[in-house]
Amino acid sequence: MRLAVAILAVSSSADATADANGKYWIYGEGIAAAFIPYGASISNLIINDKYGIPRDLVMGFDNASYYAADPVHPHLGGVPGRYANRIKNSTFTIDGDKYRVSSNENPTADHPSGLNTLHGGKDGWDWRYFNVVAHRNHSVTFSIVDLDGKEGFPGEVISYITYTMCNMTWDAKMVAIATTRKTPIMLTSHTYWNLDGFSNDKTSSVLNHTLHMPYSGQRVAVDNILIPTGEIAANARGSVNDFWSGPKQIGAGFGDAEIHGNCGHNCTGYDNCWLVNRNSPHDWRADGNYVASLASAWSGIQLDVYSDQAAFQMYSCNFQDGSFPLKMSQGVGRNASRFPRTVPKYGCLVMEVQDWIDGINHPEWGRMEKQVFGPGSDPYVLQVSHRFIVG
Ligand SMILES: *[C@@H]1O[C@H](CO)[C@@H](O)[C@H](O)[C@H]1NC(C)=O
Ligand SMILES: *[C@@H]1O[C@H](CO)[C@@H](O)[C@H](O)[C@H]1NC(C)=O
Ligand SMILES: *[C@@H]1O[C@H](CO)[C@@H](O)[C@H](O)[C@H]1NC(C)=O
Ligand SMILES: *[C@@H]1O[C@H](CO)[C@@H](O)[C@H](O)[C@H]1NC(C)=O
Ligand SMILES: *[C@@H]1O[C@H](CO)[C@@H](O)[C@H](O)[C@H]1NC(C)=O
Ligand SMILES: *[C@@H]1O[C@H](CO)[C@@H](O)[C@H](O)[C@H]1NC(C)=O
Ligand SMILES: *[C@@H]1O[C@H](CO)[C@@H](O)[C@H](O)[C@H]1NC(C)=O
Repeated sequence: MRLAVAILAVSSSADATADANGKYWIYGEGIAAAFIPYGASISNLIINDKYGIPRDLVMGFDNASYYAADPVHPHLGGVPGRYANRIKNSTFTIDGDKYRVSSNENPTADHPSGLNTLHGGKDGWDWRYFNVVAHRNHSVTFSIVDLDGKEGFPGEVISYITYTMCNMTWDAKMVAIATTRKTPIMLTSHTYWNLDGFSNDKTSSVLNHTLHMPYSGQRVAVDNILIPTGEIAANARGSVNDFWSGPKQIGAGFGDAEIHGNCGHNCTGYDNCWLVNRNSPHDWRADGNYVASLASAWSGIQLDVYSDQAAFQMYSCNFQDGSFPLKMSQGVGRNASRFPRTVPKYGCLVMEVQDWIDGINHPEWGRMEKQVFGPGSDPYVLQVSHRFIVG
């Protein structure tokens, strides 16, 4: 009886309530974060560093209303959909039917809108407002209905994104259901991290963050505009893409010639998709089984990423150019004339759990069952748990 009353009390006080900046705050032990309906994006994530100073670890804007107005639109903390990452030539085939979706990357004279599709097209999910389904102290749930034919994709997709805060942990659970026709679905969380809360007074880059990806001895080989070639490449021990043999600083390979062009034509850094090769079945939630672990000695903050997904994209913010502003909660306590209150090149790191990128154009990889969904199939499901350790 008492339990029933308690549950009732929670649900009746669960009206969706945003703060003055349009943000939905949720709380766990030692952690707090804010989310916004635009792109179902995370806009703040706050934990204390090793000195007990609160740090806001993700890029974003102070006010939710800026996200839609920002002309650059770097997919800030949102959920790219309905198909994250790149689609070669903006085409794919399902059951013999060829589909063309909206192109929005790599424009040329012949293809003014672009040679390929990135993150679901011109009006992908992270450009749209989700509905707020529920807002509790520990969780917030967003939903979107993506109509048949939107951006050229076949069939309607209905999706729910739930973010939950636990003890020093941020979990995301994403479900998407194809209600009318078979369609590709691949989501992710496109969060830009800086484990120093953009406040490090020695360096404003993340090149000194340490990364470990124990299951990632291979990566998806790409051409010079980052479209998968079909080849799966080995990350030789000691090479720039080797983060499996042991933890290594992001910048450790920047003296190696191989880092130039590693992220596409004339691009120095990382924007690559590593495979997560685990024996299946495996317990992805089990302690120590992280897909990636990122740490900064300066703040003492370590982020272990656990996920059920089979690939991991890492982007080292090669195209940040010092124009994106920090939030008021960032750059705290450091010399503003030495470090401008903006995000420099290599000032952040995006870590995206997802499936093998452009798997819909590579049936030989055997990923179709994980990327194409229909009314008669299982729903699409993505789970990721971000566990923080401070010391
Ligand atoms: C956030 O932006 C909205 C819309 O422009 C505005 O109404 C609101 O006052 C802003 N909030 C704050 C705290 O500045
Ligand atoms: C919300 O959760 C946090 C963390 O568990 C807790 O400290 C706080 O008291 C909770 N607030 C309410 C209103 O329940
Ligand atoms: C690339 O797209 C064009 C235009 O939609 C289409 O005609 C062509 O068949 C596509 N090429 C491949 C290899 O799918
Ligand atoms: C949070 O986790 C830590 C470490 O596992 C544990 O010591 C602590 O008791 C937990 N706190 C709560 C409130 O569960
Ligand atoms: C960053 O790491 C390099 C070695 O990889 C080291 O030389 C440099 O001092 C470090 N910088 C800071 C600010 O820790
Ligand atoms: C190559 O990249 C560098 C550094 O980002 C830039 O200064 C240069 O203009 C680029 N060159 C070409 C040919 O795009
Ligand atoms: C802040 O940085 C500037 C530029 O590097 C330097 O001239 C100034 O002395 C610094 N101020 C303090 C208080 O360290």
